Amino acid sequence: SAAEKGGYDYFMLKEIAEQPKAVADTLLGRIGADGRLSLDEVRIPDGVLREAQKVVIVACGTAFHAGLIAKYAIEHWTRMPCEVELASEFRYRDPILDHRTLVVAISQSGETMDTLMALRHAREQGAKVLAICNTNGSTIPRESDAVLYTHAGPEVAVASTKAFLTQLVACYLVALYLGQVRGTKWGDEIQAVVKELAEIGTQVEEVLGTMEPVRELARGLAGKNTVLFLGRHVGHPVALEGALKLKELAYMHAEGFAAGELKHGPIALIEEDLPVVVIVPSPRGRSVLHDKIVSNIQEIRARGARTIVIAEEGDETVVPYADHLVRIPVTPTLLQPLVATVPLQVFACELATARGNEVDQPRNLAKSVTVE
Ligand code: G6P
Repeated sequence: SAAEKGGYDYFMLKEIAEQPKAVADTLLGRIGADGRLSLDEVRIPDGVLREAQKVVIVACGTAFHAGLIAKYAIEHWTRMPCEVELASEFRYRDPILDHRTLVVAISQSGETMDTLMALRHAREQGAKVLAICNTNGSTIPRESDAVLYTHAGPEVAVASTKAFLTQLVACYLVALYLGQVRGTKWGDEIQAVVKELAEIGTQVEEVLGTMEPVRELARGLAGKNTVLFLGRHVGHPVALEGALKLKELAYMHAEGFAAGELKHGPIALIEEDLPVVVIVPSPRGRSVLHDKIVSNIQEIRARGARTIVIAEEGDETVVPYADHLVRIPVTPTLLQPLVATVPLQVFACELATARGNEVDQPRNLAKSVTVE
């Protein structure tokens, strides 16, 4: 009913708007005044986390994209090797697992059969499983050794939005907690990140307040067949998520690429007026990444692409190459996906509406897939 949708036309719009609160709720009580983390629900003893030799993340769909981003954070902050695998592929590969492997299963519903079968396989091999889940008491957390709940609240729209942002927050918390417990790199950088993470809801709110031009742009692209998405580093999984949203909602051909792979094939797809969304990393910090992506934007634009550039406030280098410029707040590189994904959600939702599609219930899709 209209009341359930809180005055929005679709659950998806309501859930996009709820993201600042969802993010804040997921952080609530987990960061102490001293900047140290306490994840009380994680019942894997610290000793086990200290002894673990690698992290393996399994998930499907949007949750898989959260896992891809988590890999960057876990490896950078903890120096533990981290693999990320589609749950549906995992056990058929005979993966290498033992009691020193920490498996993280990410699932909004907690009922996805592929993810459940992957975690059962992991536990049979002696691995410890930590679930990141949004649904209290669902099967995946019940069958795991420990759970860290995301507090997005019920997500009704099939295309995941607020659950994704909270999965990212939970992944960052796990990565930071591992760093804290293992004593690796628990220095100024981590302290600064924890501080920024505590403020991130406000930045998501800021992004939401500036989305009208993105909606207008989306409406103007309703007649297109293809949209490409490019990113580097954590911007690559963000590009994959932007493309997935567009497939799910707008039924358009959409693909996400690592920008460095362009020259190895995808650049052949670029033609006059093809919309290409580029997620630009911060020019501060890892500036090499930034320089490389700017030259990628120049390359595609020289071949006629219509560039839609998502870049940090104050980044002026991209201005001459952007046909459309979407500004996002300044964040630490690893946290950028929390703000960079939001315009892509709004973009896909508006394109779906403009194309007359059912936003909350896209064709052929289910909110939770309980078959393998
Ligand atoms: C389905 C949904 C996706 C979701 C995926 C994983 O395919 O349509 O939106 O990302 O399942 O769901 P989970 O509940 O495990 O996160």
